[in-house]
Amino acid sequence: MIKGISHLGVAVKDLEESREFYRKVFGLESSDPILGGDGTIKVSLVDTGNVLIELLQPIGNEGVMAKFLEKRGEGFHHICYEVENIAAEVDSAKSKGLEVLGEIRSGAEGKTAFLHPRDTHGVLVEFVEKEE
Ligand code: CO
Repeated sequence: MIKGISHLGVAVKDLEESREFYRKVFGLESSDPILGGDGTIKVSLVDTGNVLIELLQPIGNEGVMAKFLEKRGEGFHHICYEVENIAAEVDSAKSKGLEVLGEIRSGAEGKTAFLHPRDTHGVLVEFVEKEE
């Protein structure tokens, strides 16, 4: 069961410049950057009051985020739904013929998994089951 939207992922070229943009233009603070994607991205979360904006900057020219930026430029990258039970959600998606990218993995927020955008009307979908 989906509980709501946890965050929206946005690809950016320069994380510090983007954080400064959100601070100056919208008055929104963001978390200190952490490494993600096995060290291929830098991530910061902007607190909008309800849904978070996840700013994603690639490190170097390898990795999926670098390739995304090269191909598509800056902008919307993925939508993340908070779910009650990620294993059940992944099983349900698979049973409906959707491609799950890799396995369920542990991230900063909890357990996460991704659905291929080809099966979801062009939107990369992330599920997160938060650990209390
Ligand atoms: Co995300």
